[in-house]
Amino acid sequence: TIRSRILGCGSYLPSNVVTNEELSRRVDTTDEWIVARTGIRQRHIAAEGETTSDLAYNAAIRAMEHAGVVAADIDMIIVATATPDNTFPATATKVQHRLGVVGFAFDVQAVCSGFVYALTTADMYIRNGQAKTVLVIGAETFSRILDWEDRTTCVLFGDGAGAVVVQACEGTGTIADQGILASRLHSDGSKYELLYVDGGPSSTQTVGHLQMEGREVFRHAVTNLASVIREVLDDTGISEEQIDWLVPHQANQRILDGTARKFGISPERVVVTVDRHANTSAASIPLALSEAVHDGRIKRGDIVVLEAMGGGFTWGASLVRW
Ligand code: ACO
Repeated sequence: TIRSRILGCGSYLPSNVVTNEELSRRVDTTDEWIVARTGIRQRHIAAEGETTSDLAYNAAIRAMEHAGVVAADIDMIIVATATPDNTFPATATKVQHRLGVVGFAFDVQAVCSGFVYALTTADMYIRNGQAKTVLVIGAETFSRILDWEDRTTCVLFGDGAGAVVVQACEGTGTIADQGILASRLHSDGSKYELLYVDGGPSSTQTVGHLQMEGREVFRHAVTNLASVIREVLDDTGISEEQIDWLVPHQANQRILDGTARKFGISPERVVVTVDRHANTSAASIPLALSEAVHDGRIKRGDIVVLEAMGGGFTWGASLVRW
């Protein structure tokens, strides 16, 4: 059996940090409100002129170093983003050019679930023999699509990028194998109006701003995440007690707590970055994964569950033996 193994990971955050205190000088909010409702204390915001492809490129370089691969080893690049540099071409092709990769590159659009969608796509190309070594990147500049006068949304998001290098390897077809053991994806377009951007090339010819019914999104997130995690556990026969690490999309501390509680996963087994990064959409999982791998928490052989839910709605999970 061909398996997709994650060889290495890396991440990149813009240097500019904006605290809750700073936001409270722009909109009618407080550090106490933001921390109590979301767990967020600060976020990184891209500098003027710094684009999604810049963040993606820097994360990719670090992931390649960690994986011990060079540009010539990579045959495919997927960038998960809802905030591309341009309407077209795909941000992935810009990253491809800067890295000097030969092969093919494209973007995946599933908002906050983008990284899980992209990783699952990479796994399918690898297992079908279409690609051997794939760079999967989640990169976003949500600061560019926020209404900075809307306190109900602008406090929740940040900019950043994370990347992994995924490579084909020979497996036994059992859950003892290293690599991606199961993935499940879902979407439901009927929930459009709960979370969307009110602009776009074909509708308004503007970039638009993020619009969200926070309370409704929250309610659906906890339910959908629990059911998709259950699916990847059932697919593999792995039990919740065997999960070493939960690496969730980082939207809100209360969603993370609710999900972990449902599966009896203790809080120290949940990788949390939302306090420092806020919600970086498709970038949040590879940012969190990189942190926990590089600080030695996640070790080879560990069972890691990645999960996300976002606009669309879209949601998904991957179960990986690190
Ligand atoms: N500062 C102070 N007060 C605020 C702020 C703010 N930044 N934002 C909203 N409020 C007020 C509201 O106006 C409201 O006031 P009212 O009662 O006078 O009308 C009050 O606080 C409560 O607002 P709610 O929206 O009901 O607060 P809630 O507890 O639901 O928290 C939040 C809001 C944090 C958005 C929460 O619903 C949430 O996290 N939802 C999930 C959404 C999310 O994470 N989306 C990310 C994209 S999708 C994903 O990644 C899963």
